This record gives sequence, C-alpha cells and structure tokens, in this order.
Amino acid sequence: MVNEVPLYKPENVIGDEVIEGIREVLASGWLTLGPKTRAFEEEFSGAHATEHGVAVNSCTSALYACLRALGVGEEDTVVVPAMTFSATANVVRLLGGEVVLCDVTSNGNMDPDSLRRLLETYDVTAVIPVHLYGLPADMQAITKLAEQHEAAVVEDCAHAPGATIEGKPVGSWGDAGCYSFYATKNVTTGEGGMVVTNDQQLAERIRKLRNHHQTKSPDEKRDNWGYDVDGLGFNFRMSEFQAAMGLSQLERLDEMNESRRQVAQRYRNAIEGIEGLYWYGDESNTEHVFHLFVVQVGDGYPLTRNELYDRLTERNIVSGVHYPPISELTYYDGVGGEYAIATELYNRIISIPMYPKMSERDQQRVIETLHVTER
Ligand SMILES: Cc1ncc(COP(=O)(O)O)c(C=O)c1O
Repeated sequence: MVNEVPLYKPENVIGDEVIEGIREVLASGWLTLGPKTRAFEEEFSGAHATEHGVAVNSCTSALYACLRALGVGEEDTVVVPAMTFSATANVVRLLGGEVVLCDVTSNGNMDPDSLRRLLETYDVTAVIPVHLYGLPADMQAITKLAEQHEAAVVEDCAHAPGATIEGKPVGSWGDAGCYSFYATKNVTTGEGGMVVTNDQQLAERIRKLRNHHQTKSPDEKRDNWGYDVDGLGFNFRMSEFQAAMGLSQLERLDEMNESRRQVAQRYRNAIEGIEGLYWYGDESNTEHVFHLFVVQVGDGYPLTRNELYDRLTERNIVSGVHYPPISELTYYDGVGGEYAIATELYNRIISIPMYPKMSERDQQRVIETLHVTER
C-alpha cells in the first residue's frame, strides 16, 4: 500500500523551538495564566492590529464569551453563515438565543445580499461572519450593514490567522475576532483560542468570564490574597504550556501561510486544466491563508463528489467535506434563515490535503488522482 497523504500534517509546522518555551514554563513554576499567556496575548493581538487579546482554551469558548460579554441571551437573534462548523451556531443556542442562517456565495462565505434581507426581517443583535477556509469574508459590506442595523459583529477567524483585507487583518474589522488553535489549525497549541478586540471593556468582561468572574487576576492575588467574584464565570483559561507553544507558532505564521499559498498555487494551476473541477477563492485585495483547499465538483466532471471521495480514499489520500450546512444537522432541523446556495454547495465540495511544506511528490499524487479520464 502506498503511504497515506493526510488532510493535515501538524508535525510539519511544529519544531524543536517549542520545547525550549515549554522548558522555561516548567522551570518557572507558573503553569497557567501567567507571563507566557500575557506575552502571547500581546503579540497575537498586535499581529492582528488590535489592542487587546484574551487567550482562552478554544475558539468555542472565545465565541461564547464574546457573545455573553456583548449581552446576548434569550431575547436575542444572531445571524451566522449556513456554511460553517457547528460551533459558530452552537454558542448562540447555548446562550438561549435564536440562530438565523445567512446564505453564502460560491466561495462559501457570507453573502451580503442574504445578510441584508435577514437584517431587514429580524431584529438582529449580532452577526458572526466566518472567514471560511482562510478566505476573508466581505467585511466592508458586512460591517456596513451591521452598523446600519445596530448589530454587533463578532468575526469567527478560526481558519484565518494572518489573513487580510486591503492589508488589514481579519479579526480587526468587527467588534471582536475569535481564533482557534486546535490541532489542525494554521496556528496550533493543541487546543486553544483567542479573542482580539479594540474594546477594552469587552476585553475586561471576557477576562473575567474566562476565570470564574474573579475580580482579581492571578498576578494581583499574588500581591494580596483578597478574593471576590462579582458574576458567573467559567474556567476557559489557557495554560502556560499552550501559550509558550503559541508564541513559537506565531513567529512562524507568515512562513507557514506562505508555504500554504505555494501549495495552493500548484493546485490551482492543475485544476485549471481539469474540466468540471473548480476553485473559488480569488477575491481582490484579500490575502487568503488556505487553512483548507476546497474544490468544487461541477456537472462536467466524470465523477460525483462522493465518487471522487471514494477514488481518493482508494489511493490512500485523505479528503473531507467542510461542511454539511448547519441546516443539515439534526439539531438544527427547521432553523430559520436562508441556505439554498449552501445546500447546493454541500453536494459539490471536497477538501483535499493542504498543509505547509507538502512535498511536490505527494501533491502530484493528489493531482493525478483528480485527473479522471474515465468513470
Ligand atoms: C469555523 C470554526 N469556528 C469555530 C471552531 C471551534 O474551534 P475550537 O475547536 O477551537 O473550539 C471551529 C473548529 O474547527 C471552526 O472550524
């Protein structure tokens, strides 16, 4: 059997440099919410053109804490794109709010025309655009519409650290941006997340939510034990080990994203020569960071999406579908909003292996498998 070509390869982007940071944490004796976390927050928010960063244990916690800090609760309606991972919608329902789905364009991102209709129909408290696959959503249009309807904007940047629109990083366009450092993401700490924002009060509320709503940080408590809680909070903390790893990952982010772009360029060149296969992601003035490379299977291709998936699997190449639209998930049966295009895309999309430093040999194997001359 030929070797497997995986969908992701985190080991390609994690070097020995991580070990030194972890050693420092062990030697310091400060294992969670300490100097490494603060440094990671500062550097990550700085790299994303925002003043405040709050590191947490996942992007789900980041989104949840953001919405909660913005006051979202049972009376509120939040718009999320139909094509995203379940977490983007779940956080709204976890807070008791109503999820309304926004349809997407052919590249999978929120369609501003659909958003306009929804904002005119529902009383919307917040909108969560997702920069799907690493491609920035149309933030100029989305923030303008949200402002007209007095809705907050929380960007789900789980796929997109380092992505920009006209040079301005995603995460800095809305009221806040939420990142994931899950194992397969462009920046990984195994598990982890971050909120970035220019709103100091919002950042302070999220800091409290992350640490049991204690009135003092661990630093302040060291100087004076006095302890109080003035609300209900969680344990959403990031450990110092994760923060140390995040710092070293951040140093390599540009290099890793550039490597992803090179892999993407080779795929794009190949796909142009294959009838019936398409790629949508070429938006002007945006810098795509290719968390995933998603191909669309058109009518002119000899195989259906599922047949292509089987063909890749037979050749030991891992692929996936990102994502079944939220409206397809059992728990969201009957959800409101618009999702016709997302439903159509669902039958056409397939994610093929994408990771920094992918060997040309492995990539060639994927490309050859996409070239289908007969059924
Ligand atoms: C678009 C999107 N949002 C949110 C999340 C949740 O991230 P986490 O696993 O860090 O909670 C993910 C995870 O894959 C995601 O893809």
